[in-house]
Order: sequence, then C-alpha cells, then structure tokens
Amino acid sequence: TSLARFVDPLPIPTIARVAGQRAHASYPGQQLPYYRMEMRAFKARLHRDVPPTPLWGYDGQFPGPTFETRRGEPLLIEWANALPTQHFLPIDHTIHGAGKDQPEVRAVTHVHGARVPADADGYPEDWYVPGRSALYHYPNGQDAATLWYHDHAMGITRLNIYAGLVGAFIVRDAEEQKLGLPSGDHDIPLILCDRLLAQDGQLYYPVSDDPSAPWVMQCNGNIPLCNGKIFPYFEVEPQRYRLRLINVANTSFFDLTLSHDQAFMQIASDQGLLSKPLERARIELYPAERADVVVDFSSLAGKTVQLRHQSQGILEFRVRSSSQRDTSVLPAALRDVPRIDPASAVRHRVMTLNEIDDANGNAMQMLLDGKRWSDPISENPRQNSTETWSFVNLTGDAHPIHLHLVRFQLLDRRPFDLFAWNARRELIFTGPAQSPEPHEMGWKDTVRADPGMVTRIAMRFEGEPGRYVWHCHFLEHEDNEMMRPYEVLPAHS
Ligand code: C2O
Ligand code: CU
Repeated sequence: TSLARFVDPLPIPTIARVAGQRAHASYPGQQLPYYRMEMRAFKARLHRDVPPTPLWGYDGQFPGPTFETRRGEPLLIEWANALPTQHFLPIDHTIHGAGKDQPEVRAVTHVHGARVPADADGYPEDWYVPGRSALYHYPNGQDAATLWYHDHAMGITRLNIYAGLVGAFIVRDAEEQKLGLPSGDHDIPLILCDRLLAQDGQLYYPVSDDPSAPWVMQCNGNIPLCNGKIFPYFEVEPQRYRLRLINVANTSFFDLTLSHDQAFMQIASDQGLLSKPLERARIELYPAERADVVVDFSSLAGKTVQLRHQSQGILEFRVRSSSQRDTSVLPAALRDVPRIDPASAVRHRVMTLNEIDDANGNAMQMLLDGKRWSDPISENPRQNSTETWSFVNLTGDAHPIHLHLVRFQLLDRRPFDLFAWNARRELIFTGPAQSPEPHEMGWKDTVRADPGMVTRIAMRFEGEPGRYVWHCHFLEHEDNEMMRPYEVLPAHS
C-alpha cells in the first residue's frame, strides 16, 4: 500500500477500570471487583491519511481496554451488548447458527486461554442480542500469561472480530514479578491483525461469488495493524522492553523479525513463561498464538528499528538518545515447565482435520474428525485426567487448533501416509516423530497442526466440569463447522 509509514504514534490500549464491588453466587460472602465492558459501534482513524473507519469495539475502542489481573484474585465482568441491531458485514445465513431465523447481531465474549467455569466461558450458543448483557466470573486460578478476549458468537465470530471485538487480558503472578522483567510502561501488548480497507476508510470483508452464501474460506488483509493503527511508530527508551505479541487476525499468520539484525529474546508462549529466554531471529505466530519477547534497545540509542512482517516494516521503534539506568533484568532461568508424560494419559484420542469439497473440488467446509457442530459430543474427558489428542491433518493447509479451558504441551509432529489413511483409515507413519522446537516446549493453548502430519498434544483437564469447545482458530473455519463442543465430566470421587 502507498500509505505513509510511521506517521501515527502507537496507541497503547487503556487499562480496564473497576466499576465497583459486587457479590456473586460463586463466591459467597465475598465482594469482588466488578467491571462493565460495553460493546459499541464507533469510528476511529486507523491512519492519519485514512478517513475514520466504522468499527465495533469493547468500550468503543479497537483494541478494547486491557484487563490487568492477578493469579488467585477473582473478578467479575459484565459484558454488555450495546451494538446496533444490524450487522455491517456480510452474514452467510446458510451457515449453522446464522440462519435467517436468528437475530443478525449477537455477541458473547470468550477470554482466550482463561481457565473458567463453563458458564463463564463464552460458549458460542450463549450469545445475546443488543440491550442484553452477561455477568461472568473469572477465578484467575492460573499462571501469569498473556491472554486475550474476543467475540465467539455462533456463525458470525469472524465478522464480529473483524469488526473490532478484541482486547488483551493479562494475568500476572508473584513468581513472575520477582524475576524483575521489564514492567510498567516497558511492558506493552502488541495486538497484531490485518484488514482490507476501502479508500473511504470502510472495512471490507471478502465475499464469495454466490450472494446467497458469501462465506469465504480465508480472509487475508492487505494492511497490517498494530494496536489498531496502520504503520505506527513507538518512542522507546534505550532500555529493555517486554512486548506481548498477540495475533488476533482472522486467518493471517505473522512472520516477525527486527531490522538491524536485532534478535528477540522470547520469554513466554501462549500460556506463560518458558523455562528460559530463547534468542530468536524470527517469530512466526498463527492466529491466536502469543509470544512475549524482551527487546533490548540499549545499543540503539538515537536510532530507529523496525518490527517487520515478512520484509515489510509494520512498526517503527524510535529509540531516544539517553535515559536513566535500566533496572530491569532478563534472568537466565524463568520458570519450571515440567513435561507432561504421555504415559500418564488415560486416553489417547485420534482426530482428523478434514475438508468437504464441492463438485469442482473447492473446499466448502472444514470439519474436525468428520463431525459437525451439531453432532453428539464425542470428546468427554474426565476432570483432572490426562489425555493425548492427535490431530491427523488430511487437508493441504496448517490449522491453528485451540482448546478452551486447558493449557497443553506439544508432544510431537509426525509425517504419515495420506494414501493409506484415505484407503483404509490406517495410520502409517512415514518418518520419525519430530520433537517440538525449543520455543514450542512451553505451555500452549493453540497449536499449528501441519498438513501431512499427525500433531500430538497432552493436557490435564483441570477446571470445572461442563461444556467447552475446541476448534480451528482460522475464524472462517471455526464459523463453518471446524468447531466442536466437548464435555469435561466430573472427576470420580
Ligand atoms: Cu480464541 Cu474459542 O477462541
Ligand atoms: Cu482450519
């Protein structure tokens, strides 16, 4: 695009503010911090030279306010739908849950990566219409991590998120704080996505050539955004910064590097700290994946450095020429990440990722294990039990697979014989299992399942029993059947 580079300052999302104290049935006798977050239509300038863009956002912002939370400190959020009653993006009424008999505008919020009871998880069918709200409680009983929140309404998630319904949700804890990592205004979420923008500033969402079924299999933008701005710049001290990279794009992945041969020091993945910092020249993030990195600008005083996606600069850091002493540290060890022993699993599930083609061989739908959303529950792990899940990818693409409720570990990826699978449903490996890269050895909640591979993960189903979902985090796929409910059964007593 021809838009001027680096003319707008990087916006830092505001911090969500407590509205008061409130009781909740789940915490008898306790008053909990209570937040109210309203989803509203508004307009914002995404770039100095682009007219204001109509958007939807939490608290009328894109991205929405950042939640600052602490491990072990529960809180309440009332998610209020104050959106208009008509959608401004192309709904496909042939998609499950988005029929003409449904209200056009529906919303329900999910905190991605949060361990919450089922009734506060933002189940896709728990949506509600403008004028209504839901009061969710978040126990925050989990390790420090960069989480994010977003809409999850059945059949229109891709459109609601594209419209702007996203924000960061940070969990902190004492152990992490003790490490002395960069903090305060040196600890910044970088919420990355892309959009298609018309000349007049309107968001454009791509459509198929069938007006009665406009769904498309992917939505790749032509303009990258960083915290809701196009090509912003960020003035930094010549010191260490912690940047929380979050990919909230519909389908695009980010392939990130720094100019001047600078490397990132990656300190965390989706679900929190790695065991030690890893030097990384480039970081690839699929939709919904996160990486926290420390970047040290101390040797770059007075210079500019770019954060690049592929070879394109998407954010420019302008390093001031001097500053006070940097008191932050980057310790050699961060946190123990004990490996889950797959032998401790009580169940090994094998599920396919597959697509259904039309007569011309074009993919029409993506499925998990050949099943649709409305098929009976097939995954029903016991609370507190450990399982392994293997994703046999029969499609030509990688899919970012996400499970609600749990954090998991990648065990391995292993090539298999697609022909033998298709002919006899027989799983024959054609090569050795590939261990995770060091940066994939931490806790994850979203994992890339590569084509031609069996991707195997392990997790313990800690949390409340109830109904959750697992799905592909390409939003176009999850909206069109690549999402399944699963049920955590109560532990044997
Ligand atoms: Cu980030 Cu079910 O999603
Ligand atoms: Cu997918």
